[in-house]
Amino acid sequence: MARKIAASILSADFTELGKAIQMLNNSENDWIHIDVMDGIFVPNISFGQPIIKSIKKLKKDQPFDVHLMIENPDRYFSDFFNAGADIISVHYEACRHLHRSLTAIKDLGIKAGVVLNPHTPVVLLKDILYLCDTVTLMSVNPGFGGQKFIENTYNKIKELKTMITEQGLDTLIEVDGGVNVENSGKLFAAGADVLVAGSAVFASENPIQTIKDLKK
Ligand code: DX5
Ligand code: ZN
Repeated sequence: MARKIAASILSADFTELGKAIQMLNNSENDWIHIDVMDGIFVPNISFGQPIIKSIKKLKKDQPFDVHLMIENPDRYFSDFFNAGADIISVHYEACRHLHRSLTAIKDLGIKAGVVLNPHTPVVLLKDILYLCDTVTLMSVNPGFGGQKFIENTYNKIKELKTMITEQGLDTLIEVDGGVNVENSGKLFAAGADVLVAGSAVFASENPIQTIKDLKK
């Protein structure tokens, strides 16, 4: 099993973003998770392409995992690709034509993912799973870091894992929100491949050690 950590820079100190990327370069972190929010799909605004482009100069081999919490994400796929995205994930709830969206991302030569809000059933992905390189299960309501983990996520992981196995796919299961050193082991054991961690990493006294601990 993959057991990857995707540190979310949403919780980093934005006055020291360069240092945050350098810290991640020197850690066992696997992917850099980038939360883009438009203030419409979610009740918060974060940052966009210019910030991603500038931190790209500093990163080494950790892929940029771009989580688009925006309406009509298709408008911006090529912009985020040009900014440095290696994976672009869109919300199921924001895409009327999900097949078209995922195909458009893959046509750029990068990986495509779908994100489900806590209330959205996994079964809705049955006929589109073959196009998903990753499926991200939101384990909080999207929009903010530092929220409490929703326990029903464990059921969704198991259900999604069964669907992936039944269809013979290698889709990775990502879990986003409220991940910490107390629940990470249980989440990996339940079938998660990638855990997003924002406040757990960046509010910690020793982020490099915390990333190590999250993988245990
Ligand atoms: C929430 C974002 C998350 C957030 C996670 O909308 O999608 O990626 O950064 O933060 P924590 O790990 O603090 O819950
Ligand atoms: Zn996210």
